[in-house]
Amino acid sequence: MYSNWSDGYITEIEYTANFYRELAPTHFAFAALLGLVEAPPTDRPFTYFELGCGHGVATNLLAACHPDATFYGNDINPSHILSGRQLAAEAGLSNVHFLEKSFAELADVTLPPLDFISMHGIYALISDDNRRFIVDFIRRRLRPGGLVYVSYNAMPGWSVPAALQRLVAETAERATGTVGQRIEHSLGILERMLTGQARFFAVNPVLKPWLDGMKGQDRTYLAHEYLCGNWHAFYAADVMREMGEAKLSLVGSVLPIEMFDDMTVPPDLRELVRGITDRALRETVRDFAINAQLRRDIYARGLARIDPAVQRERLLTLRLALNRTRELCTNEFNLAFGATLNVEPEITTPVYDALAAQPRSTLNLLADPALAKIGAERLLRTMITLIATGAVQVCASPEGDAARRRTTEAFNRVVIERAQSARPPRYLASPIAANGVPLDPIDGLFLDACRKGRDPIGHTEERFLAMGRQLMKEGKPIADAEEARRELEARYRTFYERLLPAWQAIGIATDLVRAETNPVRAAG
Ligand SMILES: C[S@@+](CC[C@H](N)C(=O)[O-])C[C@H]1O[C@@H](n2cnc3c(N)ncnc32)[C@H](O)[C@@H]1O
Repeated sequence: MYSNWSDGYITEIEYTANFYRELAPTHFAFAALLGLVEAPPTDRPFTYFELGCGHGVATNLLAACHPDATFYGNDINPSHILSGRQLAAEAGLSNVHFLEKSFAELADVTLPPLDFISMHGIYALISDDNRRFIVDFIRRRLRPGGLVYVSYNAMPGWSVPAALQRLVAETAERATGTVGQRIEHSLGILERMLTGQARFFAVNPVLKPWLDGMKGQDRTYLAHEYLCGNWHAFYAADVMREMGEAKLSLVGSVLPIEMFDDMTVPPDLRELVRGITDRALRETVRDFAINAQLRRDIYARGLARIDPAVQRERLLTLRLALNRTRELCTNEFNLAFGATLNVEPEITTPVYDALAAQPRSTLNLLADPALAKIGAERLLRTMITLIATGAVQVCASPEGDAARRRTTEAFNRVVIERAQSARPPRYLASPIAANGVPLDPIDGLFLDACRKGRDPIGHTEERFLAMGRQLMKEGKPIADAEEARRELEARYRTFYERLLPAWQAIGIATDLVRAETNPVRAAG
């Protein structure tokens, strides 16, 4: 299951080719801004290193979004490094470098000082020695003022499910067959424990929905999460101490919503959390209040504090875009502790309409008389709420748009061509958001057809079937050819009338000139 070079990490199956929006430097910079800390500027050349980059989808996509910056990614698995290099070569990216190096071997690599270091799904899945190599790497390579992003399985959210991880690892290790078969075997044992009313399951009702969730998860993901030889879940205070050895201080979460206690901590506990002055203790108590399972934190090497007046000015001028199609923008958001957050439609309707047409700053939105009368403070508060809830996203500054357009277009062309492959990179790059946008394989085929001037339905039918796949509706495969065609037509309508305009607003597929009327609907 593990190779002798893997340091206890699973190599029997390659990891899934993932991208996480939180990895974008613009996200790091926004988290720092909310935390009143200066970040390295992202509108001029900078350096970014992704530790344990897997297939390098994120490193490549972000390199396409920042052609003036230099990106590096390392991974111990040569197959992962090969796919990263291949994607970079196909997309013509010259500002990204993939190193087939373990964390230990990074000590000997020549690198410039780094502005950003990121690691997603790494820190809690490696040995104590490897964590020390990483901390040492950060201590030696990160510039003063640089930011580090680290995600990890957190306590206390994992305290009960951690026992399942152990049972999966123990049972899978003794099973035979492929990794997938061994995972299925372990899931079968968990299921028998549940239905046979094992006392551990009976006294921990959280395990039933947890197991239901596992059954729906990608088996490759489960193998990497549950079968790695060094599995941990950490308390925030412990990671803060380890990061402290690299002179890092916690800035906050990369997820904007987690920077606001009123949107995450149950009301009766806010005063308790706020009253704790020791940062490590506050984070630990807060993690109990929110039952943290995964922390996604930003640390800084040295805290260059920003004045609140400067923060306000920067927030006002930050370019913003919708993060979903206009139709999916709502005024109601469900919060984790069961409450609902309502935003005022008289503010959000003109905001959503304006951003659907073109990304712009809060200051620019204030030029609309309907929003001007609301006033800068109320509008800014609403915009921050919309960013925190994920309805609106932070964009890069407009100056680099033209250069980013060229490199992201080349990257997106490769992604669209690969929509038909076995393991497509499922994200397009936006030159305006300087971030990734999820791409469903069917939408990828529609986009491919539009580019090539082909009938999108026929093209998608032909290619999708050629991949040996079946169209699904409400979780069930569609067997009837006529019904499958009707489903494809409905999905194309959504693609053409909703998704494509939303993508074009953030600079994706702008070469496609959209007719006033959906050509497929007009013909049909
Ligand atoms: C769970 S995957 C996460 C990959 C990627 N960061 C993501 O989130 O999609 C962990 C990655 O770390 C790599 N890895 C594990 N141990 C390593 C080591 N000692 N040195 C370098 N890379 C390592 C694995 O090969 C794998 O690609």
